[in-house]
Order: sequence, then C-alpha cells, then structure tokens
Amino acid sequence: MKRYLYLMLGSLFLSTGLWGQKTDKPGADIFMNYCSACHGKKLEGGQAPSLVSDEWKYGSTQKAIAHTIKKGVPNTTMVAWENMLTEKEIKSLARYMHSLKKKHRQLNR
Ligand code: HEC
Repeated sequence: MKRYLYLMLGSLFLSTGLWGQKTDKPGADIFMNYCSACHGKKLEGGQAPSLVSDEWKYGSTQKAIAHTIKKGVPNTTMVAWENMLTEKEIKSLARYMHSLKKKHRQLNR
C-alpha cells in the first residue's frame, strides 16, 4: 500500500516538474493568470497602457517593477499585490516582465 503512495507522489512530482519545464518561467504563468487581463498577454496593453511601446512610468529595472507590483499605483486599477503574491512570485514576475520588454526592444531595432 505504501508503495502506491510513493508512486503517486512521484508521478505528481514528475508531472508538475515537466509542466514547469515547458514554460520555463513561472512568472509567465502568474502573469497570464493575474495580469494579462489588463496588461495584455505580451504587455501590449488593454485596460492598462501598453508597456512595450511606451516608456515605463515607474521604472523598468527589475527592482522598480517589483516595487510597483508590490505597492500598486494609487488611484488606478493597478492594485498592490504584496498580500496576494509571495516575494518569490513577485520577483519572477518582475524578471518576466523585464525580459518581455527587452525582447521587444531588440525586435524594434
Ligand atoms: C485591473 C487591471 C490591472 C491588473 C489586473 C494589473 N494591472 Fe498593472 N497596471 C494597471 C494600470 C491601469 C497601470 C497604469 C498605472 C499608471 O499608468 O499610472 C498599471 C501599471 C503597472 C506597472 C507599471 C508600469 C509603468 O509604466 O511603470 C507594472 C509593473 C504593473 N502594472 C504590473 C502588473 C502585474 C505584475 C500584474 C499582475 C500581478 C498587474 N500589473 C495587474 C492595471 C492592472
């Protein structure tokens, strides 16, 4: 009986591991779930201003992005996410958004 339990746990571990490998960036998944409704799937904007065509108002370093995500932007629909996401998730989100921005810049040149 115990062996089946280990087998089940093992396959669970494996499947989540493989799933993670496919996207290779957990920040991407969080972004799709929580942020893309307003920011667009590729930061192109929607309800929120595009973050690829314009300069970022609040800074586009990973540190500045993480800060905006944590604290939000007062008087806009951009809420503070610090109570909803972990520190690690915010970091990987910041890394993800930063990489999208960089990729876009390279495409434009
Ligand atoms: C309900 C809509 C909404 C959702 C959901 C949302 N945002 Fe925003 N966000 C906004 C708006 C609107 C602004 C622009 C505020 C401004 O221009 O003053 C913004 C601004 C930002 C900025 C700053 C951009 C700049 O110009 O410097 C970052 C970074 C950001 N959002 C990240 C996120 C992340 C990460 C998530 C998901 C965890 C998220 N947002 C979810 C509406 C949203």
